[in-house]
Amino acid sequence: MAILVTGGAGYIGSHTCVELLNNDYDIVVLDKLSNSKIDSVNRVKEITGKDFIFEQVDLLEKKKLEKIFTEQKIDAVVHFAGLKAVGESVEKPLVYYRNNVIGAIVLCEVMKNFGVKKLVASSSATVYGTAEQMPISEDTPLGVTNPYGRTKLMVEEILRDLYVSDNAWSIALLRYFNPAGAHESGLIGEDPNGIPTNLIPYITQVAIGKLKEVSIFGNDYPTKDGTGIRDYIHITDLAKGHLKALDKVIGSSGIEAYNLGTGKGYSVQEVIAAFEKASGKKIPYKMVNRRPGDIAVSYADPAKAKRELGWEAEKDFDEMCRDAWKWQRNKMNGFY
Ligand code: NAD
Ligand code: WQD
Repeated sequence: MAILVTGGAGYIGSHTCVELLNNDYDIVVLDKLSNSKIDSVNRVKEITGKDFIFEQVDLLEKKKLEKIFTEQKIDAVVHFAGLKAVGESVEKPLVYYRNNVIGAIVLCEVMKNFGVKKLVASSSATVYGTAEQMPISEDTPLGVTNPYGRTKLMVEEILRDLYVSDNAWSIALLRYFNPAGAHESGLIGEDPNGIPTNLIPYITQVAIGKLKEVSIFGNDYPTKDGTGIRDYIHITDLAKGHLKALDKVIGSSGIEAYNLGTGKGYSVQEVIAAFEKASGKKIPYKMVNRRPGDIAVSYADPAKAKRELGWEAEKDFDEMCRDAWKWQRNKMNGFY
């Protein structure tokens, strides 16, 4: 039984591959390496001591995808492949719709043709848009504010229609909150192109001296210290959530969305303080205006995932900062 992992060379995909291999799944990894490097695939092999097939293929190349399904016995798919930068999606909406929406459609067409109807798909807490009621449960009304978010919501809706058309499908939509940290080995982690837009990779680059200071986007939010609050989830916990979701889709049919978050929120200032502790470095910062489109607070109600998948986050926030720091130091020391 093999699991096809699309986008498996990327940040969340590579950590999920480690967990799949450690749990004796056979995997086939597909990635076009547009936002990742072959090194992460090799590191996954090194961490697990296991080999697997890697195909450098674009999901939109249907013939190549069909070839993979013809040559390998694929039983289920974990679908990560996608573009994920909110700002870039505003500048290049067509690129995002083509890649994320058409990519998902092509994948499902091929799965359908080969009779593979078990799918775990990456969604995002971004589908909750500007939700104000905390914590956010799966019943919170959806609403998106940018093209990236719309691609995620569209794919969710397409998959729901697919299930309505054929109840044999079994699909888990995983709505991630804020993934952060790295594998405890320090061998794989997040490797953003250019200057990071997310808070934690930005902080790690300030700590290492690559960037001068963190700009805190707003200190006038209605929160305890005025800075934005988010639910940061350790990447290994997040990866393990995919295995639980895979168990569920393999053993049943239906379509369900699950929040993958910790249920706890940390402010930007708390993140900086925790990271100073983990790294032993001073993190300089300055207050600047709010970033357009940001909300004050976002954290999950993760009860449904616990109840129905038997999953909950286990690692704590300090461990996440330590692992992010270990990965950043390894990278800086010429590891890559
Ligand atoms: P990532 O960029 O590190 O990984 C995505 C991988 O997909 C990359 O390796 C990229 O090369 C590959 N890819 C993109 N388009 C492809 C295509 N058409 N064909 C083949 N490969 C393709 O991103 P990530 O953080 O690992 O995110 C994985 C998924 O999770 C994405 O769908 C993203 O939208 C979603 N997500 C991420 C976050 C986050 O903060 N990281 C939060 C919520 C949801
Ligand atoms: C976290 C907090 C910022 C950077 C984004 C996407 C979302 C999802 C995850 C994919 C906020 C503040 C940030 C900085 C700062 N991705 N901040 N200075 O915005 O919650 O979510 O990534 O699905 O769709 O929107 O994450 O890490 O960018 O920001 O003060 O330099 O840190 O204002 O409060 P966000 P983030």
